Amino acid sequence: QTKAMTPPQVAARKGGTPLVCLTAYTTPMARLVDKHCDIALVGDSVGMVLHGLPSTLGVSLDMMILHGKAVRRGLEQALMVVDMPFGSYEEGPEQAFRNAARMVAETGCAAVKLEGSETMAQTIRFLTGRGIPVMAHVGLTPQAVNAFGGYGVQGRGEAGGRVLADAAAVAQAGAFSVVLEKVPEALARRITQEIAIPTIGIGASPACDGQVLVVDDMLGMFTDFRPKFVKRYGELGEAADAAIAAYAQEVRERRFPAAQHVFADAAMAVTGEKS
Ligand code: KIV
Ligand code: NA
Repeated sequence: QTKAMTPPQVAARKGGTPLVCLTAYTTPMARLVDKHCDIALVGDSVGMVLHGLPSTLGVSLDMMILHGKAVRRGLEQALMVVDMPFGSYEEGPEQAFRNAARMVAETGCAAVKLEGSETMAQTIRFLTGRGIPVMAHVGLTPQAVNAFGGYGVQGRGEAGGRVLADAAAVAQAGAFSVVLEKVPEALARRITQEIAIPTIGIGASPACDGQVLVVDDMLGMFTDFRPKFVKRYGELGEAADAAIAAYAQEVRERRFPAAQHVFADAAMAVTGEKS
């Protein structure tokens, strides 16, 4: 694990070659992400993407730890970051540290991510000051879906100042990078210029210092909704649908299994002479 990307190395990429980040929730996907990306994020999007939950609000610390352990086994080079789920850090610095420490100890992740505005600055300082690097997340923060009343673009017009203040506060508090979700390009550019840590955008334009997507979204594997900011680099959902349909048909027609999938035992051959 010595050759793995570290939080300080990520921070040092400010303004340089864009940081490449994808989510991963399982060992095999982590292996693929590890090959090509700088950062593997075990996002709480796992609740919606793999568990069929209606939002990320029902995701537990235990779920994140389970997926974190699986992802850890698939990584060698990428920096592993795990999302702190809703309810596991908002009470205050002590609660956040207790749960983040458990996350680090049990999964082997190098950093945690938490959604947070200026309100979380004190908590971010508390964690970073005690050996737990923090990636922050501002703009559209999905755990606040009820407060926002949906998943709309954040920081348009006057509201941009709020998001800028949030980004500046988490940077000041010691976060090593910040996810900027679903904000207008001009705001993303301004934030990226004004804060000292890398911005990692999702629906936040190419002006950011890096990009992140939910891997199942960009693979066309999770298709419940299709946000404007997702580019489909694959159609794995369609490929899986076609493969499963073909299997079902061949089983029903007794075309699968075929001869090459079958184990012979001459001694038991019903038609042959028994020796
Ligand atoms: O949970 C998640 O996948 C995330 C990324 C989209 C940034 O927080
Ligand atoms: Na998340």
